[in-house]
Amino acid sequence: MPVITDIEDLKRIYRRRTPKMFYDYCESGSWTEQTFRENSSDFDRIYFRQRVAVDLTNRSTRTQMIGQDVAMPVALAPVGLTGMQSADGEIKAARAAEKFGVPFTLSTMSICSIEAVAEATTKPFWFQVYVMKDDDYLARLIQRAKDAKCSALVVTLDLQVLGQRHMDIKNGLSAPPKPTLSNIANLSTKWRWGLGMLGTKNRQFGNVVGHVKGISDPSSLMSWTAEQFDPALDWAKIEKIRDMWGGKLILKGIMEAEDARRAAQIGADAIIVSNHGGRQLDGALSTIRALEPILEAVGDQTEVHLDGGIRSGQDVLKALAMGAKGTYIGRAFVYGLGAMGEAGVTRALEVIHKELDVSMAFCGHRDINDVNREILRVPRGFSGDWD
Ligand code: GLV
Repeated sequence: MPVITDIEDLKRIYRRRTPKMFYDYCESGSWTEQTFRENSSDFDRIYFRQRVAVDLTNRSTRTQMIGQDVAMPVALAPVGLTGMQSADGEIKAARAAEKFGVPFTLSTMSICSIEAVAEATTKPFWFQVYVMKDDDYLARLIQRAKDAKCSALVVTLDLQVLGQRHMDIKNGLSAPPKPTLSNIANLSTKWRWGLGMLGTKNRQFGNVVGHVKGISDPSSLMSWTAEQFDPALDWAKIEKIRDMWGGKLILKGIMEAEDARRAAQIGADAIIVSNHGGRQLDGALSTIRALEPILEAVGDQTEVHLDGGIRSGQDVLKALAMGAKGTYIGRAFVYGLGAMGEAGVTRALEVIHKELDVSMAFCGHRDINDVNREILRVPRGFSGDWD
């Protein structure tokens, strides 16, 4: 195995080994990619306070997210098409997460189905749902997640319509890729990926194909979202989903205090401050800047989690110190997956865990549950003073 010291190392190998269209899918933000970039770069504007002469023995990053024990407060985010980054990618990532002791969230737009992931794992995972127009399909999907014993439902609220990612259009993104000349030329250099794909049956959207009627092109995420996702989604429908599910509920895509209050009112166990990794509303604030007013509004009523831009344990520590109770990594684990399959996801988690643990120690703490804003220097006005 190559020597991997940070998430960037995994990304370099991932880029070499993965078909261009899936690398671009992962690595894009919408339109100008301002929000995609700032999700990461805004973490760099926050600094730590180094402390010394503190007993640093017996450190722990163990805590809970929505009442479930986690080895560190870093869940794997739902990422569409993960099984195109590496054959059976969702199964590999779920297994790595299970062994590490962090939650794995399966996307509706996964390649491996809910059932396939449940069969390949031993502990409950979380399921992310997109709200569809077809109520019967939505009800069946939620029932399938219940049957698979998923321990939380993550409802994504910011993808009723799809933000434009230029490269996906230029590349003709589809799962599986269409046999065009440029795809064949690119795939022929990705033998490791190709061999993996030849060895699996999971090559289409496993939660969708065969379960829903009337999709003009089942291999296209873009046509699928345009045809099936519900642009009429409102809070009444979210309450209906809450009642259909009846278990732990996480609402994802909250960026404003007003929406956070509504989410807390309907009884969400957690909300995720998320702008979909900068893939939807370009020009939205980074999530780390959006966090504080949301915590002020609902921090005592529901758990506030954060995703977007996290590429290191230091980023995780900053998010936690700012007040988030949990964080998610999406791209960071996909880099590991595309680079080295399950072992790469494990490596990504190890890298982030070590960075989190040692940085926490430098800040004078032994227990992640004791970390707070006092370890940070946050620039004045960081969370904004907006008209
Ligand atoms: C889907 O969730 C996407 O962002 O592509």
